Amino acid sequence: MEIVVLPDSESVAEFSANIVVELMRKKPAAVLGLATGSTPIALYQHLVERYRSEDVSFSEVVTFNLDEYLGLDPSNPQSYRSFMNSQLFDHVDIDLRNTHLPHCEEAQNPRKVGAAYEREISHAGGIDLQILGIGANGHIGFNEPTSSLRSRTRVKTLTERTVQDNSRLFKPHEAQPQLAMTMGIATILEARQLVLMATGESKAHSVRQAIEGPLSAMCPASALQLHENVVFILDEDAACELEGLAYYRWAHAKNQLLVGQHGYFDEGLTSLDVG
Ligand code: GLP
Repeated sequence: MEIVVLPDSESVAEFSANIVVELMRKKPAAVLGLATGSTPIALYQHLVERYRSEDVSFSEVVTFNLDEYLGLDPSNPQSYRSFMNSQLFDHVDIDLRNTHLPHCEEAQNPRKVGAAYEREISHAGGIDLQILGIGANGHIGFNEPTSSLRSRTRVKTLTERTVQDNSRLFKPHEAQPQLAMTMGIATILEARQLVLMATGESKAHSVRQAIEGPLSAMCPASALQLHENVVFILDEDAACELEGLAYYRWAHAKNQLLVGQHGYFDEGLTSLDVG
């Protein structure tokens, strides 16, 4: 694991964007795993800017989102499809047919939809780079505490805390779903490179549990300890409870010498394990 601690949320977004851009330049048909939530919004703004300044093109990129609410039509402004369209897809040259979210129609069997999503990811060649946020309770995607560490794309019931945390994004008259379809933890761990972004003090506890706590289904993000190429990109507030902070800073400075020379992805697109 590499733990990168940066001064503020803007630097977190910029650092994350540089990793995505590096991959897209080395592999124009990259398969990106994308996340929703407030944390990656600034990352998407950076990617839109990089597209506008002709640094990158999304024309061959394929995307898979982590999760989608159950019971919301994609056209609903609260759906994660709408979020992705308005934050990123509408502003770049991506082919919308190459963008995927685990949407389940009311008449569909969620188990079949989950299995089909897994197959689509495999057919695309697997995810090259998965972007993740983290919930205040340690969830990744919508894998809430007690999610099996070997879980696959399926329906999860949200915890009261997650519903509460996300309620700020819903207007009083809007119904807030309590079920979601999410990639599983095993699905996430199959991505070749993981980038977890976290900003703000409200994430400090779950970040500490994920990095320094025991591997436990009670903190789904702790499963990232099993991945060989994971970078946690944190602002000072999200990193403030980490006990090993001094070492992480020191190691990151050394790692940057390597990454500066070789990047995060080598030509064969095997991620460089600097953690
Ligand atoms: C949401 C999403 C997660 C996200 C998390 C944190 O509910 N399902 O993918 O990482 O909660 O969101 P935020 O970035 O808004 O804190």
